[in-house]
Amino acid sequence: DWNMPDYIGEAVQKIREQVGTDEVILGLSGGVDSSVAAALIHRAIGDQLTCVFVDHGLLRKDEGKMVMDMFSKNLGVKVLRIDAEDQFMGHLAGVTDPEQKRKIIGREFVEVFQVEAGKLTNAKWLAQGTIYPDVIESAGKGKKGQTIKSHHNVGGLPETLNLKLLEPLRELFKDEVRKLGVALGLPHDMVYRHPFPGPGLGVRILGEVKKEYADLLREADAIFIEELRNTPFELPAVAGIDPGKAPTNWYEATSQAFAVFLPVKSVGVMGDGRTYEYVVALRAVQTLDFMTAQWAHLPHSLLGKVSNRIINEVRGLNRVVYDISGKPPATIEWE
Ligand code: XMP
Repeated sequence: DWNMPDYIGEAVQKIREQVGTDEVILGLSGGVDSSVAAALIHRAIGDQLTCVFVDHGLLRKDEGKMVMDMFSKNLGVKVLRIDAEDQFMGHLAGVTDPEQKRKIIGREFVEVFQVEAGKLTNAKWLAQGTIYPDVIESAGKGKKGQTIKSHHNVGGLPETLNLKLLEPLRELFKDEVRKLGVALGLPHDMVYRHPFPGPGLGVRILGEVKKEYADLLREADAIFIEELRNTPFELPAVAGIDPGKAPTNWYEATSQAFAVFLPVKSVGVMGDGRTYEYVVALRAVQTLDFMTAQWAHLPHSLLGKVSNRIINEVRGLNRVVYDISGKPPATIEWE
């Protein structure tokens, strides 16, 4: 266990020695690892770092703005935001197979990043938020036939761009990365967010991905997350459990929670009229390792409130269902 101020001091020193006066580029995804890596490297070398944030149009509600506010506005990090939504949607049109979608999103991500990185002709280093479990994992094989986060740890790029690799988090476990992030001034809620898959909403829209679907899903998902955060989680007092470490709300009491867009329409009523709109499923799980998971027993009052809000606030959705499948046999994501 590191003492954070000492650790930051040493890590900063090491990065400075490694890169000298060279320029560094980093692909910012909005996830914890690349964010902490960016904050640490920026602390060490300031404007020698340029981050490239590829917005593929499959991010959660307000995520792009949040990333830009956090890095560009608050920390003064140089960030290029690349709006590649049309390009991603174009390549995903007509594609329904989950693995095919993953491949396309991964490939386009590398493509866009490569073009932007190619413009920064002075860059000598590619920084990545690789953490210790990634190092171990890449020795084995990833899930679903691909390495997890393979498109964020932009494989192959160092060679094609002739860059050296800078991976300052290689020795850290996730909880250490989070502590480091907080110590570097990243917001607590950002650093302790649930994991979000690299292909983003692309694998939470079943079948073909369309902007219209992504927009509906973003709204439903944001309502679900907001209500989870706003609903207190009350733990019975149990001997031996440190109340300071217990979750205080249902977001913290779940390991991953999100909405899934189902491209099927069902009938509903609104006022005097009949509606015929799309369905979303809510998924919330508790797990230690994401290899097995239990569906979360969310309070019915919370589920009811989320359902009402989604149906009333999101035009285009008229039905909400809750996923009560464990892993195995179901996976956490629906694709
Ligand atoms: P499943 O759905 O297999 O998910 O139970 C286990 C964990 O992996 C995440 N996941 C992904 N992460 N790229 C990622 O970066 C992916 O293609 C991908 N697919 C699933 C999932 O969110 C869960 O945390």
